[in-house]
Amino acid sequence: MKRREFMKLTSASLCSFALASCGGGDNSHGMFDGDMLGDSNNSPPLNTESFTNAFAIPPELTGTMINSRKVFDLNVQPGQMNFTSDSITATLGINGHFLGPTLRVNRGDDVDINVNNYIGEPTTMHWHGMHVPGDMDGSPHQEIAPNQSWKASFPIQQRASTNWYHPHAENTTASQVYSGLAGMLIVDDEETAALDLPKRYGIDDIPVVIQDRDFNADGSLDYTLSHFDQMNGKKGNTFLINGVIDASLDVEAKEVRFRLLNGSNARVYRLAFSDGLTFKQIATEQSLLPEPITLNSVVMSPGERVEIIVDFSNFMGSGFTFDDQLSGKSLFQVNVTRAAEVESITPNSLTNLAVFSESQAVRSRSFELSMFMGSFLINGVSMNMDIINESVTFGDVEIWDIKNRSNMIHNFHVHGAYFTLLSRDGSTPGTHERGYKDTVYLPANSHVQVIIQFADYKAGVAAPYMYHCHILEHEVEGMMGQLIVV
Ligand code: C2O
Ligand code: CU
Ligand code: CU
Repeated sequence: MKRREFMKLTSASLCSFALASCGGGDNSHGMFDGDMLGDSNNSPPLNTESFTNAFAIPPELTGTMINSRKVFDLNVQPGQMNFTSDSITATLGINGHFLGPTLRVNRGDDVDINVNNYIGEPTTMHWHGMHVPGDMDGSPHQEIAPNQSWKASFPIQQRASTNWYHPHAENTTASQVYSGLAGMLIVDDEETAALDLPKRYGIDDIPVVIQDRDFNADGSLDYTLSHFDQMNGKKGNTFLINGVIDASLDVEAKEVRFRLLNGSNARVYRLAFSDGLTFKQIATEQSLLPEPITLNSVVMSPGERVEIIVDFSNFMGSGFTFDDQLSGKSLFQVNVTRAAEVESITPNSLTNLAVFSESQAVRSRSFELSMFMGSFLINGVSMNMDIINESVTFGDVEIWDIKNRSNMIHNFHVHGAYFTLLSRDGSTPGTHERGYKDTVYLPANSHVQVIIQFADYKAGVAAPYMYHCHILEHEVEGMMGQLIVV
C-alpha cells in the first residue's frame, strides 16, 4: 500500500466556539496533496472544496463544585455571528454568540444552574430529556423576566444520555431557539464510563447539533413565517452544524462517536454518510440501546437524539460527507487524517434495559394530534396555560396511544419521564428505536403506542409537565398540553 502524505489543513487555528470571527470561510486553503486515488481500498478521496469552515466543538462546562453541588452559570445574551464571509448576523447565544456550551454532569450529582436573562424579553430554560421537578423544568410557568435570574436545582438520577436545553417560554420558544438558544446537556454514569466507547470530547466523541436556517440578503436570520411555514413549521435552506455552515471535521482513523441532536425547529432528516458507510447506533434519547444496531441511515425528527459510532479505522486519507437524504444536501465533511491515539472497540452488548411490558400497565390514555382550520390541537384542544389536560398517578405504568390525525408531519415529546415504544403503526418498532425515548416521530397519519411511568417527581398545577409536538411552530400554535403527577 502506498504511503499517503498530507499537508496539514492551514486552519490549525481552531476558531473558538461561536465567536464572530468564526465561520468566515477564509480558512483551510490547505488541501491534501497525497495520492488519494488508485489505492487498494477504493475509499473516497478527501475533498474539502465545499467544506471550507472549521467544525465547531461547543465548549464543555463541567461546573464548579460549591458545597458539594455542581454549579453552572448560563448567560442568555445577544450575539453576532459571521456565518458567511461577508455579513454579520444578529443572534442569541448562551455564554457565547450562538448556541451554548455542552453541560456535562454525572449521575449522582446535585446541580445548580443559574440562568441570567440578558436578551431583553422573557425567556425560560428547559432541560429537555432531564427528569427534574416541575418547578425546575423551565416550562412556560418558570418565566425569567429580562435582566432577572433563575436558579434550577436538581439531582441527576437518570441514565447516561445526550440531552439538551432550550427556552420554552409562552409564544417565543420557536423564535428564540431559531435565534440560537440551545445547547447539549450530557449525563454520564459509571456503567457507560466502563464501556470501551469513544469518549474524548471533541476528538472521538463529537457533539453534532443539526439546524437549518434562512438568511435575508443583509445576513440577518429570516424568521418570517409564510402561510406554508405556519402550517408545516419553519424550514431553512441553509444547514448549520454547531452553528457552522459547510463545516469540515478532521478525525483519527478509529471509531468515532457522534452525538446527533436534531435541534431544528421543524425539519426531519434522514442522515447518512456518503458512499454507503455503515455505522452503529448505540443510543436513543435517554439510554444506550441494549446492543449496537448497524444502519446506513437514521431518521430524526426535531428534539430527537441518537448516538452513533462510525469505524474509520480503514479509511486513513479518506473523506466522507454526512448527508441528509431527504433534502439531498450534505451537512458536513469528515476527513480521516490522523492515526488513532487511543483505540476503542465498541462492545457487542451495551446495557441491560428494564422495559415495562404491556401487562404491567394499569391504564391507557390517548393523544390525538390534529390540525383544524389552522389550529393545532391535541385531543381537540389547544394549549391553555390555565388548563391542566391530564392527571397521571405517580408510579403508575400507562400505555399512551399517540395518533397523528393529519396529513402533515408531527412528533410527540413529553417532559419528566422516558417512554419505550410498544408499537409503530401496529407493528413491532425497529430495534434502533428500542431505547428509552422522550420524543417520537409521527409521520402523517401514523400511530405509535408507548409505555410510560412518571416515577421521579410529583408535579402540581403550579408547575405541571408539558407534552407537545416538537415542531416548534406547532408547539407555539397550541399543539401542547399540560399534565400533573399526583
Ligand atoms: Cu424540547 Cu417541551 O421541549
Ligand atoms: Cu422537554
Ligand atoms: Cu406538529
